[in-house]
Amino acid sequence: MQPTPTSAPPPRTRARRRIWLAISASVSLAAATTLTPALLNSASAASLGCSVSYTNQSEWSGGFVANLVISNTGSSAINGWTLTFTFPGDQKVTNAWSATVTQSGENVTAVAASYNADIAAGSSTNFGFQGTWTTSDAIPTGFAVNGVACGGSSSTGSASASPTTASASATATASASATATTTSASPTATATGTGTGTGGTGGYPAHVADPFTGATRYLNPDYVAEVNAQAAADGNNAAEASVAQYQTAIWLDQISRIAGDSTHTSLTTELNDAAATATAANPKVVELVIYDLPGRDCAALASNGEIPATAAGLTEYESQYIDPIASILNNTAYENLRIVAIIEPDSLPNAVTNQSKTACATATPYYESGITYALNKLHAIPNVYNYLDIAHSAWLGWPSNMSATPAVYQKVVLGTTAGYASIDGFISDTANYTPVQEPFLTNPTLSVGGQPVDSATFYQYNPTFDELTYDTDMYNTLVAAGFPASDKFLIDTSRDGWGGPGRPTALNSSPTTADTYVAANKIDERPFRGDWCNQNNAGIGARPTDEPFGTSSPIEAYVWIKPPGESDGDYPTSTHTHGDPHCDPSGTNTDGNGGTYSTGSIPGYDVPAGQWYAYEFQMLVSNAYPAL
Ligand code: BGC
Repeated sequence: MQPTPTSAPPPRTRARRRIWLAISASVSLAAATTLTPALLNSASAASLGCSVSYTNQSEWSGGFVANLVISNTGSSAINGWTLTFTFPGDQKVTNAWSATVTQSGENVTAVAASYNADIAAGSSTNFGFQGTWTTSDAIPTGFAVNGVACGGSSSTGSASASPTTASASATATASASATATTTSASPTATATGTGTGTGGTGGYPAHVADPFTGATRYLNPDYVAEVNAQAAADGNNAAEASVAQYQTAIWLDQISRIAGDSTHTSLTTELNDAAATATAANPKVVELVIYDLPGRDCAALASNGEIPATAAGLTEYESQYIDPIASILNNTAYENLRIVAIIEPDSLPNAVTNQSKTACATATPYYESGITYALNKLHAIPNVYNYLDIAHSAWLGWPSNMSATPAVYQKVVLGTTAGYASIDGFISDTANYTPVQEPFLTNPTLSVGGQPVDSATFYQYNPTFDELTYDTDMYNTLVAAGFPASDKFLIDTSRDGWGGPGRPTALNSSPTTADTYVAANKIDERPFRGDWCNQNNAGIGARPTDEPFGTSSPIEAYVWIKPPGESDGDYPTSTHTHGDPHCDPSGTNTDGNGGTYSTGSIPGYDVPAGQWYAYEFQMLVSNAYPAL
């Protein structure tokens, strides 16, 4: 269902390739300054040299995620380290990884974990933490390792937004020029109820800020059956069976899916089933994917829809698809359900970047009208929560794409009766594979061999290496453009774990070019970030989790929208002509800059979109990260 990679990264000129966003503030301090005698109390201290890079990978009002790289610039190994520094602001560390971090006032002490305590001369290691702040998240500038100052001149960046690129690509320009002229912005009416009790419209429970808080999650019986059958066939495999306990979304990907068929339970039966155990005090979340726009999947061939991109197709979408769904949902028998609607994956991202493709240019007006119609119908039902799909970091993460995004979404959202209030948030990484965090690649401006890391072919000057960075930047961009701060992000983590034997376990700082440095340190094992179909070596990612970074973060929840084990698409072979060549393991994807890459698809299989793919499921389970 994802578009072809030629369209994911925008066309870029040489000039544009040099523009990147300084999303992180970093401090790189030179080797040790003059040591005081008190500190020269051991041979190792005498030769200890260090530099520390502190990067705010993600920052939002009230919180942040920081990554720190400690480099041993001395001539002998550091065997065991304690890093100390002082926060210039009022930051408070709340949790840490790869070190034990304690704090007394502004003073912070980080002690190495057992597995990263030794740093060879010339090598580096890293750790990170998450925290809160109220008045200042200023970057610390003085660090000491084992009491030895890593002092020196600092080159403090700022976390300011980049200048917007003047040289926006043709696709970005086209979509930006489609900016809505509507002025009907409505007040932001997101309710802040606690989620229980009454107070909502028409006697419904209040429409809450975060539907996942205080709710249990409904399990799609069709997916549970698929998983259980596979686990049984694999000798009652416990890890596989455990997947059935996690919620996945119900994909309404055809009109006929509403009524159900031999392998799909009807929507009404599922809602009745969910409502049977839901109460006002124990509400239940049901996740639905609204996915049947006219001319669906305009930039790819894997999940082309059933409705044509015509005026008649739009009428069909509205009257035969959205209206029946809305009429089923609009039932007070379901008032204790919180229905999370994932709205039309890939559609508006294609409106941002793929207007040079005829199919997308033709379909876009129907996408816009269709989504506005769907939002109006669904928002009118008090217990429906609308989340607009907003691609992922390897698609809209380039600064020019990101800056072109708000206008495209505003055109649709402000075209609704309720305006901004018609949506509850956004979702990234739907059915994609981009990791939430690249733990060893945290600073796109880090210089390797004289080039910034994001100049590597894998990133192509896209400074958003992962979903946490992308969502934070996109959230800030949307809020600055006028979207309410309450519109937070879900992340589909169903297949972005990248565990398994190929996953790096520690920072490797020895490669001397951006390409080799990225290759040695990235956890995303795709040959190309635009690859999207049945990716080999992928693994199940973080389990569905509410507020994984705390309540003030732009990330609202991890969800599993794509059911792990269902195929992304098949490809034309000697026995059939349908499918998408970008799902062919022998096929290629291109980056729009002359680069050609393997599709990265699992070799040896050919499974249509949405159908059970046993090998893929087994692989995703074995490569799960965290392990199942
Ligand atoms: C397919 C749908 C399918 C869904 C969930 C999408 O990519 O187009 O047909 O229901 O994935 O597997």
